[in-house]
Amino acid sequence: AGLDAAGGQPAAQPAAPPKASEPLTIIFASESGNCETLAGNVAKLAKKQGFKPKVVDFADLDIATLPKAGKLVAIAATWGEGEPPARAVETYNALMSDAAPRLDGVEFGVLALGDTSYVEFCAIGKALDARFEALGGKRAHDRADLDLDFDKPAAEWIKGALKALAPAEVASDNVVAIDFARSNSHDEDEEVSRDPVVVEVIEHVNLNSSRSKKETIHLALEFADGAPAYEPGDSLEIYPENDPQLVEEILKATGLTGDEALRRALLSERDITTLSAATVDRFAKATGHADAQKFIESGEVKAWLEGRHLIDLIEAYPAALTAEHLNTITRPLPPRAYSIASSRKEVGDEVHLVVAAVRYETHGRARTGVASTHVADRIANGSKLRVRVKPNKHFRLPSDPATDIIMVGPGTGVAPFRAFVQERRATEASGRSWLFFGDQHFTHDFLYQLEWQEALEDGSLSKIDVAFSRDQPEKIYVQDRIDQHAGELVEWLDGGASFYVCGDAKNMAKDVRAAVVRAFSKQKGLSDADAEAHVAGLERARRYQQDVY
Ligand code: 2AM
Repeated sequence: AGLDAAGGQPAAQPAAPPKASEPLTIIFASESGNCETLAGNVAKLAKKQGFKPKVVDFADLDIATLPKAGKLVAIAATWGEGEPPARAVETYNALMSDAAPRLDGVEFGVLALGDTSYVEFCAIGKALDARFEALGGKRAHDRADLDLDFDKPAAEWIKGALKALAPAEVASDNVVAIDFARSNSHDEDEEVSRDPVVVEVIEHVNLNSSRSKKETIHLALEFADGAPAYEPGDSLEIYPENDPQLVEEILKATGLTGDEALRRALLSERDITTLSAATVDRFAKATGHADAQKFIESGEVKAWLEGRHLIDLIEAYPAALTAEHLNTITRPLPPRAYSIASSRKEVGDEVHLVVAAVRYETHGRARTGVASTHVADRIANGSKLRVRVKPNKHFRLPSDPATDIIMVGPGTGVAPFRAFVQERRATEASGRSWLFFGDQHFTHDFLYQLEWQEALEDGSLSKIDVAFSRDQPEKIYVQDRIDQHAGELVEWLDGGASFYVCGDAKNMAKDVRAAVVRAFSKQKGLSDADAEAHVAGLERARRYQQDVY
C-alpha cells in the first residue's frame, strides 16, 4: 500500500528538491510491532524531506555507533510492569550502564508508546529520553507519551520531530502531508489488508471439559471475501464490545439511563473498564468534583487504582456526569490481539483463534476481560465480529523447511504452534518439530489433544512433552520438562533448531528462558554467564523467538 495524502488529495511535492542529505538514525524497541511500524513511517517521511534515514532495531543496535548517529529518533515501547520489549533488553541495559558512549553533538527526539492501564506508563521511553540527555545529547524535540490509540498523535509527533531535527535549509517548506492511519506498515509491498473487516463465527467450542476451572474457546472465523494473507505467527485483533451489564451499571451510576446514542458508544467505542491516574485526573477536571481533586492531591491514587475499574471511581465519587464527560474521561476501546491458531494452507478462508475467558474478583466485584468474555459469553455460531490482521514478522517459522523447531506453549500459548504444525503439514516440511504443552489438568485442559495425536501420527509433529501442573501435589511446569530433556534440547539447538515461546510474559517466558540457559550450562559445562551469552546469541540470530503477553 502506498502512502495516501490526507483527505485523498495527492501528496504535495516539495517545492524544491532537498539540498542536504542529512543522516538520520531511527532506532526502535518494539514488542508487538507498533514501534517498528512507526519507525518505518518516520523513515518514509524523513526521506521525502531530504534526510538519509536508517532504521535500526534495538536488537541489532551497536551502541558504540550512536555518537556518529548525527540526528537520532528513538521510538520505544514499554512492556508489562515498566519493562523494555524482550528483544531490546540487552541493548537497553547496555545503554543504561557505564558502557554507554557519550552522545555530545547528537540531537535526539524520543517517542514513547505504552498503555495507561499499566502503572509504569511509558517508563522505557521516559528513561531513554533522560539517558540521552545525561550522556550529552541535545533534545531537539520534546518526548510524547502515547497510549494505545497512538495513530494520530504519533503522526503529529513525527512531523514535529523531523521539523526540529531538520538542517536549516530544509527546515520548514518540505513538510509533506501523510495520513499515517492509512499506512500502518512500512513494508511497501505488504499485502495484508489493515482495515478491519467483519467476519462470521462458524465454530465456537469450549476446549475445556465442564469440570475444568478454565473456559478456553476455539473460534473459527470465516472471511466472506477470502482470508487476508496472514502467516503463521501473526495475530488477529478483535474489536470487542463491552459487557452490556457494565454499561447499564455505569449509566445507572451517572443517571444517564435514557441516552441511546451514549449506550451504543459505551458498548462498542469507549474503554469503560481501564482506570489510570490520567482517568482520575480527567474525571476530577471534567466534573469539578472537589473530593476527587483532594484525592488526587493526597498521592494515594496509585495504590487505590490496583484492581479497580472506572465503575469504582464513579461510585466512589458520585457526580452528575454528562455524555460529554464520559467521552473525555474514557479512552477509545482498543482492539485485543490474539495469536492466530491456523494456517491458510490448511483452513482456507478461515482464521482460528484460541481465547481464554478472563474472570476474576477484586474489591468485592466480579470483573471480566472485555474481549475474552465478549467471545466466550456474547457470541455464538453465526455471530459477526470485526477483526484485523496484525502481522508479526518476529515470530516466524524458519525459512528453511528442513530446520527443526522447538515450541513451548502452555495454555493459550499453544495457539501459534497449531498454526506452525498445520503449515508444516501442508508444506510437507522435512524439519522435525517438538512441542512442550502445559495446563492444569490432563483430563480437563489438554487443548487440541486429538489433533496433536494425529499430528504425531502423520509426522507433522515429531515429539510432544506435557506438563499438567495440578495433577499431582507439586506443580510441574513446561520448564521442568525442559530441565528433564536438557540433553536432547541442546542437541536439537546445536543442530540448528529454532526455539519458540508463546504465552505468559510475566513468569512463564522468563522461567523457560532460564531453563534453556540452565540446559546449556549443564550439558556443555558452561559458566552461567557463558550459557546466558549463548542464549542471547540465539536471540540475536532470531533462533529464539517469543510471542508473549
Ligand atoms: P498453574 O495455573 O497450575 O500454576 C497454563 O496456564 C499452565 O501454565 C498452567 O498449568 C499453569 O499452572 C502454568 N503456569 C503457571 N505459572 C507458570 C510459570 N511461571 N511457568 C510455566 N508455567 C506456568
